[in-house]
Amino acid sequence: MALPVDMLGRGMRDLRISLTDRCNFRCRYCMPVEVFGPGYRFLPREDLLSFEEILRLTRLLVPLGVEKVRLTGGEPLLRNGIEDLIAMLAAIEGVKDIALTTNGVLLAHHAEALALAGLSRVTVSLDALDPAIFARMNGVGAKVERVLAGINAAQTYGLKVKVNSVIQRGVNETEILPLARWAKEHHIDLRYIEYMDVGETNGWKLDEVVSAAELLEILSTEFELQGRDPAYRGEVALHWSHADGACEVGVIASVTKPFCRDCQRLRLSADGKLFTCLFAANGHDVRGLLRGGAGDETLRAAITGLWSVRQDRYSEERGIIARPKAEMSYLGG
Ligand code: GTP
Ligand code: 5AD
Ligand code: SF4
Ligand code: SF4
Repeated sequence: MALPVDMLGRGMRDLRISLTDRCNFRCRYCMPVEVFGPGYRFLPREDLLSFEEILRLTRLLVPLGVEKVRLTGGEPLLRNGIEDLIAMLAAIEGVKDIALTTNGVLLAHHAEALALAGLSRVTVSLDALDPAIFARMNGVGAKVERVLAGINAAQTYGLKVKVNSVIQRGVNETEILPLARWAKEHHIDLRYIEYMDVGETNGWKLDEVVSAAELLEILSTEFELQGRDPAYRGEVALHWSHADGACEVGVIASVTKPFCRDCQRLRLSADGKLFTCLFAANGHDVRGLLRGGAGDETLRAAITGLWSVRQDRYSEERGIIARPKAEMSYLGG
């Protein structure tokens, strides 16, 4: 059976599953506290897909091309029993890679169980090493040491670790070089992320974006870097290796160098909607089908149907077409 492709010839390879819309951080660029305060109504428990529902969908998606699964949130480690889900995902034939995106603050506590369950790797968000900048950015005064301890624990238990840092002008660009030094010292692949206009609440402004070109210029003042080709079709980051081969540094340049052309990502929100783009306003409800007793064939037809009409390429159209967008904490990063 031919694998489904969308209208731009892109397959479905990378499934990103949001396990919760809740987070224990309030990063201003993602969940500003004025919006996500005590009165904010998160998804009620019964709206979240159960592990059985997530597994059923994943089993259906693997024969359609999905090889990589990433668990995200909100903060996915807030979802009880995540290790059990990972173990069951790891048992699905054809799932080649299971990754987790986390803010790292609960990672030290979970690292051993995650590794035992069969998680391949973790991507930890770390925007600053400076305690004051870190505390200000996460919006809840969380301590950077806890994240560093989480990274250390993950490495100890054999999980591969990548670090993602969102750089925002006027907020943390002074952290660019300290983060690169730290990552090199600890042999960790570090990727800077250009600040994106995702969601409707962060008040994004283009002049707050530190571009990939600017980042490279800053890094080149201190490091000898060699560019490398993408490791696989659709890799999102531009990468450079340190001349001594210690590790890599990259930039996810979604604003200045969009990578929609090869985007093979399908996102599943915690309440069971499939989104074909990070910047989509609406998803396609599959929870209704699952709970309405739809058979596998019906589900498969619905998913291939929505993929076959997909034309998303928001990052390439940014500035041309304005439309409402879902929040990243809900949809998953
Ligand atoms: P690897 O499998 O480790 O290469 O991960 P990845 O390339 O899927 O990247 P990761 O999940 O670590 O994504 C890092 C960040 O890049 C995300 O949190 C987003 O901020 C951004 N990003 C990832 N995928 C997309 C996408 O499809 N579109 C846009 N615009 N940004 C994305
Ligand atoms: N721009 C860029 N990256 C963002 N993230 C969350 N919001 C934004 C934004 N507006 C990042 C987080 C995390 C990943 C899931 O997405 O910092 O690393
Ligand atoms: Fe910050 Fe990630 Fe939580 Fe958003 S989901 S507030 S980026 S830790
Ligand atoms: Fe994919 Fe949409 Fe991101 Fe483009 S903007 S890379 S289509 S998720």
